[in-house]
Formats: sequence, structure tokens, C-alpha cells
Amino acid sequence: MINIHSSPFTLNKEDFGPHFKWGVTVAAYQIEGGHDADGKGFSIWDVFTQQKGKTKDGHHGNIACDFYNQYQNDISLIKELNIPNFRFSIAWSRILPQGIGEINQAGIDYYNRVIDCCLAAGITPWLTLYHWDLPYALELKGGWTNREIIKWFEEFVSICAKNFGNRVKNWIVMNEPVVFTGAGYFLGLHAPGRRGMKNFLPAVLHTTLAIAAGGRVLRQYVKDANIGTTFSCSHVEPYRNIERDFMAVKRIDALLNRLYIEPLLGLGFPEKDLPVLKGIKKMMQPEDDKNLIFDFDFIGIQNYTREVVKNSWLMPYVSASLVKAEKRKVPLTTMGWEVYPEAMYEMIKKFSVYPQIKKLLITENGAAFPDELVNGEVYDVERKKYIQDNLKQILRAKDDGYEVNGYFVWTLTDNFEWAEGYHPRFGLIHVDFDTLKRTVKDSGKWYADFLKR
Ligand code: BGC
Repeated sequence: MINIHSSPFTLNKEDFGPHFKWGVTVAAYQIEGGHDADGKGFSIWDVFTQQKGKTKDGHHGNIACDFYNQYQNDISLIKELNIPNFRFSIAWSRILPQGIGEINQAGIDYYNRVIDCCLAAGITPWLTLYHWDLPYALELKGGWTNREIIKWFEEFVSICAKNFGNRVKNWIVMNEPVVFTGAGYFLGLHAPGRRGMKNFLPAVLHTTLAIAAGGRVLRQYVKDANIGTTFSCSHVEPYRNIERDFMAVKRIDALLNRLYIEPLLGLGFPEKDLPVLKGIKKMMQPEDDKNLIFDFDFIGIQNYTREVVKNSWLMPYVSASLVKAEKRKVPLTTMGWEVYPEAMYEMIKKFSVYPQIKKLLITENGAAFPDELVNGEVYDVERKKYIQDNLKQILRAKDDGYEVNGYFVWTLTDNFEWAEGYHPRFGLIHVDFDTLKRTVKDSGKWYADFLKR
């Protein structure tokens, strides 16, 4: 029995088992830059960030970390940090500038170089097919609200599978659908900036169908593929010990944690606990029930915090509101998220309940904190502790009999944090955004040392 509360408690890689996958995750728009390089088309994020007031201080990803040109350097840093698995995403509009139709060979060549560079360094690539950067040409046709997008996505996935599948075996169909449909199609805070249920509900249905369809395309074209998809998740707790807040928890939990996984597993949309989802039923076609399901090899969960909610009749659709961490006077990250590592344990427990999930991996976890720069060194005590505390919660879960098969840190380098621009820093490696110089932080050195032992 591992006592995570005993002090001093040294984390030991071996305690996670010999087959545990250790990695780091990044996403194309957040690091690549090269927004119009070599025939790339614009994505919804290229366009959104050019509009006034959409991101903090007008930040955009035109250059970002310049991973497009500096990938060799960054992959050697991954090797230096002893990280064996690298998860990155493909920018759809680099491969298909118009989203469908004509292929941009230069885009394919670029990802071939990145993949080959990983393999030459002994690093296993994990490809995410969609991390939120839809080709703008497709948004003009309705984006995720247009049912045609299932076919558009299948076309993109099949091109990736045929071109990269001989060397890439680990695939993630989509990243955090709840975030990009919620923030992008309901709240208008992320690209493409659309709002309201009339956009959100069709986007949810088509995204879920596209995830399952993407899985099927990969299965068809990639031999021995390990196919997964990833979900954001938050431990949800009531603000007060009263029935109304417990009911609010149910609704928010259905929205944040169950909306996508359940239909994909064949359990349908969680409309009993969140009645507004009944609107999706009305849009469904006869074959959809069957087509929503795909048998994934693994499911990736990504947890950063917990949410505390209370009943609120003023909030449309969910009748619940989040009680901000700031108000609750708890430790916070730069994102304003509560530091609550126990949420990791709770989420592992929660997702382990589904017998249909074959393997569970933590495909993102990390935190934004300010770094301290002293004489060319970067100290980030809080990030290091955050990661360690989360790993302890994974051990606790394993100790209680739950199976967890991997852990990927979010993220390699500081990068473009969507609407928050470059302000929050999540990296194991510090980036000076004036010079683009990389400096491994203390947390990065710790991870490297931990992975070596
Ligand atoms: C996303 C990343 C994001 C990170 C921190 C996840 O929701 O997949 O793109 O940068 O969390 O907010």
C-alpha cells in the first residue's frame, strides 16, 4: 500500500508499471506558427485572432513558438527530457487548405518530417487529428453545424491515415469536444465565435458522429492502430449541502463529463439529466444511433481542476452556475482554476465505471503558474508540485484497483493559450516570446530526472 500522505514521499516511475506510457502533449495552432507557410489555408483560429477583442491583448498564433521551423530543436529537447511519447496535432488546413478537395503536398511533407524526426530520436509519435483548428473554408459552409462535416472529416482522416499510418500507430481522433463546441459554438469565446443552442446542439451531434466516423476510417486504413479520443473532465461538487445544488451537479456533470463519451459508448446522450439535450434527438437520422458508436482502443481523459456548482434559476438551459474558485478562496493557477489534485483521482474513478472503456490514459494534465527567472534559470516550484501531486493521485487510484495506462504532461513549451493569449505559461520549457529562446524549467528537469530513474 502506497501512503501518499507519508512524508517524504518519493515518486518512483516503477510504481506505475512497466507498460505505463509517459509523454507530453502539444497542439498545432498553439505552437506551430507558419500560419500561411507553404500553401497552408487559414483555420478558424487564424481568422478569429485577427478580429478585435477576441483574445487578450490581441495575441495570435501567426508565429507562436515557431515549432513549424524549430521542430528539430524541440524534438531534441523532448529527447533530452527523456520523454518517450510525443502527442501533437495535425493542422487540417495545412493538408487541405480548403478543408476538402485539393491536397497540399507541402503540408504532408512537413508532418512526415516531424514524424520521421521523432522516430529517429526514438520518440513515439501520437497524432491528434483535430485540436480545434477547423479550416476556415469549412466554417464558411457552416462548420460543425453542417452535417456534411462528417464526410469532410472522413476525407481528412483518410488522407492522414494513408500518409502517416505506416509509421504512426497511436491515434487520437479529437481533442476535448466539449470545449471547442461549448466555447466556440455556444459561448462565442473561442473560434469561430458562434453562440446559442441553435449552433451548439447541431455541433454536438455532428462532432460525436465525426469522432466515431474518424475512428472507423482509421481502423480501415491503419494496420495495428491504437485508436483513442480525448475528453476534458472536471470533478463537480455542490456548493451547499442541499438537494437543489446536488441536482445542479447532475446537470453540469452531464454537460461537462458525459455529453460525448456516453453516446460514443452506445449509451446515448445524457438527456435525462440534462433535458435541453432532447433537442439533439430531433435532428437525428435513422442510422445515427448506430453510427454514434465506436469501439475505441483507449480513452484519454484530461483533468485540470474541479468545479463547484450551485442551483441558479437565472442560468438558461442548465439552471446552475459555477462558483468561481477565486470566490472560494482556494489556491489558484494563472487561469483562475483551483489547484485540486484529488480531482484526478475522482475522474479516474468516474471513467473506470464504464465497462466499455478498454484502456484509460491521462492524455493531458498540467498547470499555468508564473515562472521565476534568476540568472538564466527558470524556477517553477508550483508547477513541479502540481504535476507531482497529480501523479500521486494516479498512484492512489492504481492502489485502489483502477487501471491507468499513461500520463502526458500539458505541455512541452509555453505557448498560445487560446483566448488568454501568451499570458498563462503551461510549459515544462520556458519560451521568451521576443527571442523564442527555450529554457528548460525546473519542472522539466524534474520530469527528465524522474523518467530516467
Ligand atoms: C486543451 C489545451 C489547452 C489546455 C489548457 C486543454 O483544454 O486541450 O489546448 O491549452 O487544456 O487550457
